[in-house]
Amino acid sequence: MASIDTGQRVKKLREQIRTLDYHYYVLDSPLVPDAQYDSLYAELRELEDRHPELRSADSPTRRIGGQVLEGFGQVPHSEPMLSLDNSYNEDELLEFDRRVARALEAEGPFDYVAELKLDGLGVSLRYVNGSFAQGATRGDGKTGEDITANLRTVRGLPLKLRSQGLDRPLPEVIEVRGEVYMTRSGLEQANLQREMAGEPLFANPRNAAAGSLRLLDSTVTAGRPLRLFCYQLLGAGQNGFFAEHFAVLEYLKRVGLPVNPHARLCHGIDEVLDFCHQWADKRKSLDYDTDGVVVKLNDLAARRELGHTVKFPRWAMAFKFTAERARTRVSSIEIQVGRTGALTPTANLEPVQLAGTTVARASLHNEEEIERKDIREGDWVWIEKGGDIIPKVVEVDLEARDKHCKKFEMPSTCPVCGALAHKPEGEVIRRCTNASCPAQVRERLIHFASRNAMDIRGLGPAVVDALVESGFVRTVDELYRLEVEPVAALERMGEKSARNLLEELEQSKGRGAARLLFGLGVRFVGQRAAELIVDRYGNIRALEGVSAGELEAIEGIGPVIARSLAAFMAEPRNRELIGRLAVAGVDLGGQPAARQELLENNPFNAKKFVLTGSLEFFSRAEAAEEIKKRGGKVSAAVSKKTDYVLCGRQAGSKLIKAKELGVETIDEATFRSWLEQ
Ligand code: IVH
Repeated sequence: MASIDTGQRVKKLREQIRTLDYHYYVLDSPLVPDAQYDSLYAELRELEDRHPELRSADSPTRRIGGQVLEGFGQVPHSEPMLSLDNSYNEDELLEFDRRVARALEAEGPFDYVAELKLDGLGVSLRYVNGSFAQGATRGDGKTGEDITANLRTVRGLPLKLRSQGLDRPLPEVIEVRGEVYMTRSGLEQANLQREMAGEPLFANPRNAAAGSLRLLDSTVTAGRPLRLFCYQLLGAGQNGFFAEHFAVLEYLKRVGLPVNPHARLCHGIDEVLDFCHQWADKRKSLDYDTDGVVVKLNDLAARRELGHTVKFPRWAMAFKFTAERARTRVSSIEIQVGRTGALTPTANLEPVQLAGTTVARASLHNEEEIERKDIREGDWVWIEKGGDIIPKVVEVDLEARDKHCKKFEMPSTCPVCGALAHKPEGEVIRRCTNASCPAQVRERLIHFASRNAMDIRGLGPAVVDALVESGFVRTVDELYRLEVEPVAALERMGEKSARNLLEELEQSKGRGAARLLFGLGVRFVGQRAAELIVDRYGNIRALEGVSAGELEAIEGIGPVIARSLAAFMAEPRNRELIGRLAVAGVDLGGQPAARQELLENNPFNAKKFVLTGSLEFFSRAEAAEEIKKRGGKVSAAVSKKTDYVLCGRQAGSKLIKAKELGVETIDEATFRSWLEQ
């Protein structure tokens, strides 16, 4: 059991971390350096790990995800989540202002709040007694999907609201609306990691945010740099709570919810227009995408009077910025082959100026996209940067199409090695099936040598090309068998460079198991996942024969990563490769003792558990996780093979079955005492 002191320390740490989060995410003025924050966080994590009984659902550490869902539940919205009417120029916005005047039978100027229109995914959040209780997507506007587990992982979303310094107590239930988005720099990072892990890149921050929130495995979501801005409090104008929207935004900030700092209270529509013109350009300096301005009537009573149509509120209007476009010609469509064999089509363009840079290439994503837009070599096309990092082809200028221009067909063989390129049913990506394809080998070697992996300086793309073309290297272990003379004879090498490269390779042998595991380029196994896995297993050899279930028991490792690594380790060719690396003297990690120790000294090891009823201190998923971490297994139904049935309150048929079969039952108190052993 935790002592009172430990309990106090945990409470203090949580408060400190919440305050630091508030200053960082809401006030945008960090109080301490990152390292200091990290050490407080690490201390809290450690105390909570050692004392599971001190866990709390709204602890700042409970963001890491872990729940894997079969599907999303449905959440009926207490008020519909409406859309916004769009305007594209000054006249349309002035017309909106006149409509407001007519409907209110009043003369302006009216007070409006102009806010940036954030380009992410609209969400609805519900707090009960100050704690984050449920979050949902917009769905069809009436019913959304329950994405609570994923939203918990969004940095900046307070798991607990602040109640200090408010004029009146926090209402029991608070519902807010906001936008979850990914920063541009976050997207760049995420795409870098995806490239390393051999996954397809996100086209833009909005797709990335939407895709991340709709994942069934929240551990994957937790690794995505998502952020939040809130812009609406439901029921704010009722019971005289608030008179003005601008005050609501202030209140949201006070209770700890992040609000975009650029909202402006405008007296009259002219000031709104001014704001729109200013941000049409200024938005480029932000680290997140905005596709317009949302103009909202400030007076909440007037808003109620105006009401809404089926689709839009009559008191608000979006002013859309025009995306920058350019017209150019597709000179060719090129297919690139990545490390995992994925074939990615790219358009080579006649160079054209767009939003300040010269653009000569555009991603075409995949064959379905080409098919849908019917993009052909020789076509004149419109390209747009919009929110996308890489410009995209938005439309083909069909009138300008040469009638001899042929429909593009994705090759069914790899353009590099000629092997079959297969597209599994239901997937959008076609992959080269030849693991020894020089393009794949090249990408794998480049990844292996990259800075975050084995960090082999001197082994850049040009040298890799020479090594692959000469046939010296086909797998990563062959790097360690290179000799000076033949390497020196390669084009542009010479003896000095060859010696340096071999010295670098020698050095890289001791980079450690986590870098090596990451460097092996197992799909979905990024740097962080590799570290977590090596922390648990110690040595890469210890992963041979590992099951996906065992890997998933590691906090932070979800089923996608687990399955991918287990499949990799089950493949004899990969185990042989690891063996050859060991023979070459590459460090595969320390003794795999840590795990053995953990497994041997606890009452859960190798025992089968069934959980029933509701527990006071854990969700069932959390209890299962604790059991699995300690080497136990959890199954759904009681049988003769079950060792223990853990019974919470209102245990039902499983308890009866356990008694019938004579299976031992334990209560939550016993369970907790075992956890401490
Ligand atoms: S207010 C009744 N404010 O844009 C409308 N929406 O195109 C309430 N959005 O569904 C929304 N930034 O997801 C509002 N500052 C902002 C916004 C914003 C982005 C999204 C929101 C909405 C969509 C409509």
